[in-house]
Amino acid sequence: MSGLRIDADRLWNSLMTLGQVGAYDDPATGLKGVNRLALTDADKAGRDTVKGWFEAAGLEVRVDRIGNVTGRRPGRRPELAPVLCGSHIDSVPTGGAFDGALGVLGALEVVRTLNAAGVETERSLEIAFFTDEEGARFGTDMLGSATAVGRLELEQAYGLTDERGLTVKGELERIGYLGEVDPRRAPPHAYVECHVEQGPILAAAGLDLGVVTGVQAISWQELTIHGKSAHAGTTPMELRKDAGLIAAKINVHLHEMVASARYGTEMRVTMGRVSPMPNRVNIVPGRVVCTVDLRNPFDDLMEKSERDLADFLDHLEKTHGVQIERRQTARTNSVTFDPKVVARVAEAMDGLGYTHREILSGAGHDAQEMASICPTAMIFVPGEYEGISHNPREFSTPAACARGVQTLMDTLLGLTADV
Ligand code: GLV
Ligand code: MN
Ligand code: MN
Repeated sequence: MSGLRIDADRLWNSLMTLGQVGAYDDPATGLKGVNRLALTDADKAGRDTVKGWFEAAGLEVRVDRIGNVTGRRPGRRPELAPVLCGSHIDSVPTGGAFDGALGVLGALEVVRTLNAAGVETERSLEIAFFTDEEGARFGTDMLGSATAVGRLELEQAYGLTDERGLTVKGELERIGYLGEVDPRRAPPHAYVECHVEQGPILAAAGLDLGVVTGVQAISWQELTIHGKSAHAGTTPMELRKDAGLIAAKINVHLHEMVASARYGTEMRVTMGRVSPMPNRVNIVPGRVVCTVDLRNPFDDLMEKSERDLADFLDHLEKTHGVQIERRQTARTNSVTFDPKVVARVAEAMDGLGYTHREILSGAGHDAQEMASICPTAMIFVPGEYEGISHNPREFSTPAACARGVQTLMDTLLGLTADV
């Protein structure tokens, strides 16, 4: 335990202030939600706010060519690799104030605490927010961090388009975040990210925090089902090629795959987007664009599920006379975090008297990209209401957020002292 305490009220105020940026009235919940989709005007406003806070905290701020923003607090030994921490401030269109923001503003709170106490670290400390972690606009998650570690080529990232055909590069330029620094970064000494759990496990166990051991595999596909649009009243059922029916069959099949337990007991499936065309009451849908999100902690079971799904799509093409175009939009294997950094996170929690358990992340995170270039770990903060997330109901208490960030502080103090 360092003895240095973060300022829980300052942290909360920052979270609530950023939560106003992109706030909207959510009709489904009647609550205020957050919509800061990557590289929109709201994201720009959020970026300007947080970048301003980085600068006000005396950090040396740089923006790279994929729009990642990093603030550096030089240590006594600036020649040594820095310790990095951060997360993202983009959101899904129906998000809350915590997903990603806690990791970024938590990192900032650590810097503010060090500044207020006049503490100099041995290694430099860098804090960052990465571009488009969510993937909810341009279709690929962890865009900024994947580019920073070289998993994605810059040109490939630049060329991704949203539903309106707008490109990542054009939108970065438009909002003023097409920076000049090479996004490929030198490996930090270590990376630590604090994030809300976004699930029910920690709250159900009545624990203060989670020590994240890794992230499960993620597979995203966009399917375009080509059928034939026709009159709803006059077209005999046997003459139809109903793309909407095919999308429904795929969704049901995905759930049957889960129920079969052939892919383990932890496979998760989601058809989050279904866009029928022409989307009118009396027209058989001629085309449907839909997405498939598969998750599995086990890479072999993930691969098996992908192969079996592909076979099922082939079968639907043959039996229903439709074509199903398939585009893999994101794919990451499961990631195991560094046992030494994981242990240091647990030690920090022990030192602070917080109860905890190990937990595998169900959601994707920038940390899984950083893990490919440096020792990495994450801290999970429990959420209320069964940890609901990607929903305006998302909420972690001020005390829970403070415990996560205090752990971040103590872990970072230890890592920056490694010489
Ligand atoms: C990121 O939020 C994910 O989809 O896991
Ligand atoms: Mn997140
Ligand atoms: Mn998210």
